[in-house]
Amino acid sequence: MALVTTKKMFEMAYKNGYAVGAFNVNNMEITQGIIAAIAEEKAPLILQISRGARKYASMSYLRAIIDVAVTENPDIPIVMHLDHGDTFEICKQCVDDGFTSVMVDASKHPFKENIEITKKVVEYAHGHNVAVEAELGQLGGIEDDVVGVDDVTKYLTDPDEAVEFVRASGCDSLAVACGTSHGAYKFKTEPKLAFDVIQGISEKLPGFPLVMHGSSSVLAEFKDLINKYGGAMPDAMGVPEQAICQAAKMAICKVNIDTDLRMALTAKIRQVFAEKPGEFDPRKYLGPARTAIKDMVAHKIKVLGCVDKVGEVLAAGD
Ligand code: 13P
Repeated sequence: MALVTTKKMFEMAYKNGYAVGAFNVNNMEITQGIIAAIAEEKAPLILQISRGARKYASMSYLRAIIDVAVTENPDIPIVMHLDHGDTFEICKQCVDDGFTSVMVDASKHPFKENIEITKKVVEYAHGHNVAVEAELGQLGGIEDDVVGVDDVTKYLTDPDEAVEFVRASGCDSLAVACGTSHGAYKFKTEPKLAFDVIQGISEKLPGFPLVMHGSSSVLAEFKDLINKYGGAMPDAMGVPEQAICQAAKMAICKVNIDTDLRMALTAKIRQVFAEKPGEFDPRKYLGPARTAIKDMVAHKIKVLGCVDKVGEVLAAGD
């Protein structure tokens, strides 16, 4: 099966109260780990590529890796998605490069300008059967080159603005600011999401898929390994998995995860280096790191309620 768009995935996810995992890919091992989990759990998948990933690995390498994943897994619906495209030009480039979904993130611009940029991307992307995710409100944290705001609670998405934005821009899904942030340091005290924002938007836009960025949980298993084996992430804190689970049952249809992948990889590599200081074969530390990613992603798929959903997405067609 060729790459698909998010359309049917989101329809099914919305209707049946789950979310599709959107995992960031930066290299072969990360992609292979994700794919192995997805194949086992029979879950639809969104593989997303950020600006940092393109800078690091180059689009042609990432594209080739994803092409292999698609060819080797013909029964799994897979979306290739641009994460945080901040200009029309980069979104157009990705549409031309064969992405099946792009995110235009013009959220740093004033409301009207955000609508104008998003609308332009929508017109081009829809002309090529590519879905568009947009963003309204401001996320916190730093991920790759995307710098967010410090106090995430100040810039939550306003439900009335969301309605106007979606109608005026024509976007297919909307990333909302509901208290999450990018990176490993999401909360200073108690983790808390603004479920009322998600609920408020979904009441005003029934059936419309919402997206939650900054959704890594900063799993204790990996945080502890990193800290035990020479790392220093004592204050790292993520979104509790019960909160992700709750959001997935609401209008959140896509949940973005990058930090948890990075931490799984880093933890395992640190462990191998600490326990086997003489090891210098990359396969001996990247291999366990890839397995850790696979196990972590399989677990996330369960949290998202997305196990065994391939059948219904395929039956819905694209
Ligand atoms: P995390 O940093 O929580 O993994 O979020 C990633 C993300 O939202 C990518 O857009």
